[in-house]
Amino acid sequence: MAENLLRLRGVSKTFGPVRALDNVSLDLNAGEVLALLGDNGAGKSTLVKILAGVHAPDAGSIMFRNVPVTIASPAAARALGIATVYQDLALCDNLDVVANLFLGREQARVLLSEEAMERQAWTLLRQLSAKIPSVRIPVASLSGGQRQTVAIARSLVGEPAVVILDEPTAALGVAQTAEVLGLIRRLRDRGHGVLLITHNMSDMQQVADRAVVLRLGRNNGVFDVARTTHEQIVAAITGATTEPATVRTATAPRATATEE
Ligand SMILES: Nc1ncnc2c1ncn2[C@@H]1O[C@H](COP(=O)(O)OP(=O)(O)OP(=O)(O)O)[C@@H](O)[C@H]1O
Ligand SMILES: [Mg+2]
Repeated sequence: MAENLLRLRGVSKTFGPVRALDNVSLDLNAGEVLALLGDNGAGKSTLVKILAGVHAPDAGSIMFRNVPVTIASPAAARALGIATVYQDLALCDNLDVVANLFLGREQARVLLSEEAMERQAWTLLRQLSAKIPSVRIPVASLSGGQRQTVAIARSLVGEPAVVILDEPTAALGVAQTAEVLGLIRRLRDRGHGVLLITHNMSDMQQVADRAVVLRLGRNNGVFDVARTTHEQIVAAITGATTEPATVRTATAPRATATEE
């Protein structure tokens, strides 16, 4: 049995009249990529922010490695071993790769010499088989895929058990997407639990082991990706009724009459 890293039960969060999350449960294990899927407004980012210590849940419980936890701040999330890479990446364009990797890691910056940080930067990038030409160039001169790689490498500085990636390929072309998907597989192979937020069904099918679907703030299915069709997952996301696989035909399904 894979080690359970995160176990959420009955997590709810409201913003004024909006029920962003309603009684949501989720499990993330070591050595798996779990896709978090859902339409716009389904509650994905809210869930991520709860795990990242940005929002406090109104109700429900979170277990980290089978221990109940309260994630009171982003620093608390990182200290626990939960790293989050947001879509905007939050890189400093004018700083080089090494400086970006250790940004906000004041302790490391005090303890490590420039050479030691540079060595550690290369070690991190090598572990990810990242294709970065130099760690002494400003990140502004890197490609989108390379910037995503630097942001992911930075999240690994504290050796987190859990890595949360918010739409890591959204802004990338085909080759760069392939590069980042390869990197996600390597994170899994190194034993991290990866929570991958994505709208991209192809990415999901290429790298995710399981998928959790949220709809209107509620759980709407957990899928073993290898045993699930694209259509079944899309149906869970959109709320269309799922037809048994046996009645599917080779022709493209038409939009159902219940859709507005
Ligand atoms: N800080 C906030 N204040 C008020 N409402 C919020 C806040 N954050 C999220 N919401 C609302 O909560 C609901 C869930 O939003 P959330 O951002 O979690 O969805 P999402 O699944 O990430 O969507 P998307 O795919 O568009 O990023 C939405 O109705 C959203 O408007
Ligand atoms: Mg979002």
